Amino acid sequence: MANKLLKCKIGLSILNADLASLAAESERLLTSGADYLHLDVMDGHFVPNLTFGAPVVKCLRSKMKDVFFDMHMMVAKPEQWVKDVADAGADQYTFHIEATQNPGELCRKIREAGMKVGMGVKPNTDINVVVDWIDQDLVDMVLVMTVEPGFGGQSFMQEMMSKVSFIRSKYPTLDIEVDGGVGPNTIDSCAKAGANMIVSGTAVVKNPDPAKVIADMREAVNKQISLYSL
Ligand code: DX5
Ligand code: ZN
Repeated sequence: MANKLLKCKIGLSILNADLASLAAESERLLTSGADYLHLDVMDGHFVPNLTFGAPVVKCLRSKMKDVFFDMHMMVAKPEQWVKDVADAGADQYTFHIEATQNPGELCRKIREAGMKVGMGVKPNTDINVVVDWIDQDLVDMVLVMTVEPGFGGQSFMQEMMSKVSFIRSKYPTLDIEVDGGVGPNTIDSCAKAGANMIVSGTAVVKNPDPAKVIADMREAVNKQISLYSL
């Protein structure tokens, strides 16, 4: 019997898109069949790179009223940006467990600001650290990084799939996102492990036929979801 509660969602990381035409690029890729925008916020401290913040999100929101914005907050002080990002119109605030001393308090603050809670883990982080917070029903999505965060275009880390399988085996209906090096050559691993939220950047942005890449990835995930039994 298919897992009716789990849905495949394809998210676009626009980090490697033409950032000078951010809105146009986002529109182009969303009309290619993606479900949401994955916006990578980097502060130059948590990761060795610098991207953008709430002011850019606000401008994007003014152009895209209904698109789901998943904020991937690669920042050293995730508590600091919750209000600004919520005011800018974001839907989900995905912070890294490695960046906070008070995950529970931060989750509540994000919910109070009207956003969904995403909890991210870096490659060297033990996946067990998220279990307590999921069990307290404070987490809407778990992000398993499949590259060391900080740059697009890196190689996919297959060994991260054991984390995805572990979480999927414990939580059959929880949203599980993978991010980093995901594309046509790695989607089957992600799907088989149990990921349902798929972030892809380079593999879609740089492809002459992004619609086909997105459709193929969706098909691979839906095939696996239809095999799950509750
Ligand atoms: C890396 C970012 C990812 C990245 C994905 O730190 O969090 O979202 O941009 O891009 P690709 O798919 O090119 O690895
Ligand atoms: Zn990301």
